[in-house]
Amino acid sequence: MCGIVGYYGKENAAPFLLDGLKKLEYRGYDSAGIALLRGGKINLYRCRGRVRELGSARREKGQLGIGHTRWATHGAPSEANAHPHVYGKFAIVHNGIIENQFELKGELLARGDTFSSETDSEVIAHLLAYYYEGDLLAAMQKTAGRLKGSYAVAAMCEEIPDALVCARSKSPLVVGEGNGGVYVASDLSAIAARGVALYALGDGEFALLNGKGVTVYDRDLTVIPKEPLEYDPEAEAPDKRGYRHYMRKEMAEIPAVIGKSCIDFARDPAYEELTRVLGRTQRIHIVACGTAYHSGLCAKFAIESLCRIPVEVCVASEYRYRNPIVPPDTLALAVTQSGETADTLAAAELAKQAGAYLVAVTNVPYSSITRIADTVLFTGAGREIAVAATKSFNAQLELLYCIASALAESKGGQSYFAELHRLIETVAAAEKSCEEVRGWIPYFLGARSVFFLGRGADYAAALEGSLKLKEITYLPSEGYAAGELKHGTLALVDEGTPVVALLTDPALAEKTMNAVHEVYARGANVFLITSLPEYVSRKEVSSAVLLPACRAEFSPVLSVLPLQALAYYLSIARGNNPDKPRNLAKSVTVE
Ligand code: M6R
Repeated sequence: MCGIVGYYGKENAAPFLLDGLKKLEYRGYDSAGIALLRGGKINLYRCRGRVRELGSARREKGQLGIGHTRWATHGAPSEANAHPHVYGKFAIVHNGIIENQFELKGELLARGDTFSSETDSEVIAHLLAYYYEGDLLAAMQKTAGRLKGSYAVAAMCEEIPDALVCARSKSPLVVGEGNGGVYVASDLSAIAARGVALYALGDGEFALLNGKGVTVYDRDLTVIPKEPLEYDPEAEAPDKRGYRHYMRKEMAEIPAVIGKSCIDFARDPAYEELTRVLGRTQRIHIVACGTAYHSGLCAKFAIESLCRIPVEVCVASEYRYRNPIVPPDTLALAVTQSGETADTLAAAELAKQAGAYLVAVTNVPYSSITRIADTVLFTGAGREIAVAATKSFNAQLELLYCIASALAESKGGQSYFAELHRLIETVAAAEKSCEEVRGWIPYFLGARSVFFLGRGADYAAALEGSLKLKEITYLPSEGYAAGELKHGTLALVDEGTPVVALLTDPALAEKTMNAVHEVYARGANVFLITSLPEYVSRKEVSSAVLLPACRAEFSPVLSVLPLQALAYYLSIARGNNPDKPRNLAKSVTVE
């Protein structure tokens, strides 16, 4: 995580750096800083908190600069730990984790260096100072050779008023040239509005950015050619389009987004190859984190039910260290909105090395997962800025259900595409009823904890509802298998505890209602999300959202809508900013 930017050109660097950092705040926002070179001296502006705190630095002069917005890993969020880190004549910004920092620090301390922060990143500035012999690029190459872990780094030196140097391993980095300037950033959103030529740096590559433009080098510092990225500057420029928060805007986009996922899938150039692979697939491993993990769980219900193919869904951070069993004809699905989640990348690579055919389901073109997958399927949800995933979840579901349909067909079964296509209208109808959850807020405001219950696909959706609530309201909550509640967790339910029950599968409805009776008998306030009208006015139910009917296997794409809305409105009612929950970042590029 963390966002980095850099600029050298004919303009003052500060406005670009600050605007770029604001666009990268989805990567972290607990401290920020910029360094500007002026008159052969590095001037540092850093703060705890958001980039906007650096507003007064906007007028500072200097045509060369670097900047950083931080999500703390090593060292608390504080001004001293904020980047850039300066040592001697060198300033650096870093995204990633230096795993051998203690070994390196020990070595540098023994040489007489002193450190001014608790971060792992500061060692990079010290190593540059140690290896520098008049050539910043060569010093960066030697420094990179000492680093273990992940890094995207941009560096500048007081002796060199017209150049930046960058290095990348595992953490994303984009460099650009045009409009009289050169640019570097963690992702293209920070630069896109400039409409310049952009290039993605690969693992182990370096870049020199100066008045001549961008030059990219391999590990041995041999120049390598780069193809410019194709991108739409407007689509990359974040805009709330009149909504108070990105999260609400992104929820409103869901009907359009799932339509696109469905249509794009059938037209995808990878479709034929995928169909061939599906024909021989005997089992599926899904690796993912957070919300993407929940879409994997929802997909498991659909695939196993419709295709009778076993699906294992594993949290990526567990899969990667578990020595998983990957028999021949395993299809691995790596589901990741950002395509940059470190654990998902590692788990996907592991599955591929073990012989699985790797399909990436991602939302971000040119992301790291696209470089390792055998086939890439794009969810096409468009940029998602709010830290809490919403539209990307629904788009992942739609795409995973499309895969389920193609898999069923490849095994001689029926196609579900027509049904999936109809979901577009059903979702649009369901979206309206979500506003009804606003009436639930008073019952949740004073709650100490919240429960989400369901069975089957409803259970997977309940887990997502609970994650969303925790993430942006900071209320403790649990998503629970309705039948499991009585084995311990029921002890937590007392007078007034809000319990959200999901009821979309007629075959399981009465079973879930058993749990509803149990919590109601202990004084819980029960809120129902259902597509079964006969349950709406049951005496146990305080209030219900009635959803349009759809196949039980696909129901999470609908039932999650009121859950997302509940988390959003409760977050605001509790005085939070739903777009930027504390302690979190959108893209988790560290382990
Ligand atoms: O980019 P990814 O889909 O790989 O991200 C995975 C999780 O970090 C992400 O879904 C996270 O749980 C969200 N903030 C949930 O809203």
